[in-house]
Amino acid sequence: MIIMPPRNQFSASRRNVLALASAAGVYRLLPAYAAAPAAMPIRAIPKGGEALPVIGLGSSKAVSQLAADGPAALTNVLRTLVAHGGKVVDTWPRNPENDAKFGRILGEPDLRERLFVTSKIDRSGKEAGLAQFREAQKAYNRKVVDLLQIFSLTDLAVHWPTLRAIKDTGEARYIGATVSEDKLHDQLEAFLQTETPDVVQMNYSISERRVEARLLPFARERGVAVLVNRPFMNGALFKKLEGRPLPEWAADFDCKTWAEFSLKYILAHPAVTCVLTETTDPHHMEENALAASGRLPDAAQRARMAAYIDEVL
Ligand SMILES: NC(=O)c1ccc[n+]([C@@H]2O[C@H](COP(=O)([O-])OP(=O)(O)OC[C@H]3O[C@@H](n4cnc5c(N)ncnc54)[C@H](OP(=O)(O)O)[C@@H]3O)[C@@H](O)[C@H]2O)c1
Repeated sequence: MIIMPPRNQFSASRRNVLALASAAGVYRLLPAYAAAPAAMPIRAIPKGGEALPVIGLGSSKAVSQLAADGPAALTNVLRTLVAHGGKVVDTWPRNPENDAKFGRILGEPDLRERLFVTSKIDRSGKEAGLAQFREAQKAYNRKVVDLLQIFSLTDLAVHWPTLRAIKDTGEARYIGATVSEDKLHDQLEAFLQTETPDVVQMNYSISERRVEARLLPFARERGVAVLVNRPFMNGALFKKLEGRPLPEWAADFDCKTWAEFSLKYILAHPAVTCVLTETTDPHHMEENALAASGRLPDAAQRARMAAYIDEVL
């Protein structure tokens, strides 16, 4: 059970509620946080077999709001993820002030050893890329980063040897590359033809399905784990579906919300290892984590879901 401020307090006074609760140490005392985490379905990284829980956090929005909002909201989102058995947190250094604050949250005693923390390089040039990795190690106070990725294939030919060298030193446990736009899919596929990253990250959702044709099956064939970004098209999916009820047949695979609709569709693809959902709201984090439980749609149900979305969007 997760105890959080009532839903209707989040929009108007979420910051105050969370700040008060955090200052009072309330979260540390909550049974949900103190007890062993609930189980979340897991999937293995093909290379090495380490299992990852299937729902993670994309932290970009929450980290960018740290200076303005304070640490309580993001801390509670992470504790909610962990309480539901999740551990993957996708991030990378961009703003020293926010990154340092985030590093302190990641170092909280109840979170530090329970998280799988990624980082990325999004600067061009060998020295700049290496410097950005050092910044991540320092900001997140981690000598070893779980996964280091090249952001959107930036300066790929230059950074890939650097990532391999970093992995050889043991400072990154896994290495890979990301894309979040359809226009980079061909380049990622070409990269996968010649290199064998541990992990690739790509955009995929019920309304952005281009990766189904080639990239997802190819990553699977190459034994590469897949992290998914943009599961909600950065929130645009909810705006497009606002006011529209779920079709009744969504209950056939235990789906109660549009967030679950996209997440269950994604999770039902066998090439997917973990979906990164971005949120600043612990209630949304809980909803996203719970999408992993219950039934997933079968092939016929997935086809019906895709056809329905194509019809209504
Ligand atoms: N090239 C790259 O490497 C790259 C590019 C883009 C993204 N990413 C990664 O992917 C992560 C995900 O980002 P995204 O752009 O893909 O965002 P997304 O997860 O598709 O959508 C995030 C939006 O959905 C809302 N939301 C989340 N859960 C919800 C729920 N259950 N109900 C209603 N609204 C919900 C969030 O608002 P609330 O805050 O109100 O919940 C937020 O505005 C990023 O943080 C990043 O880690 C990587």
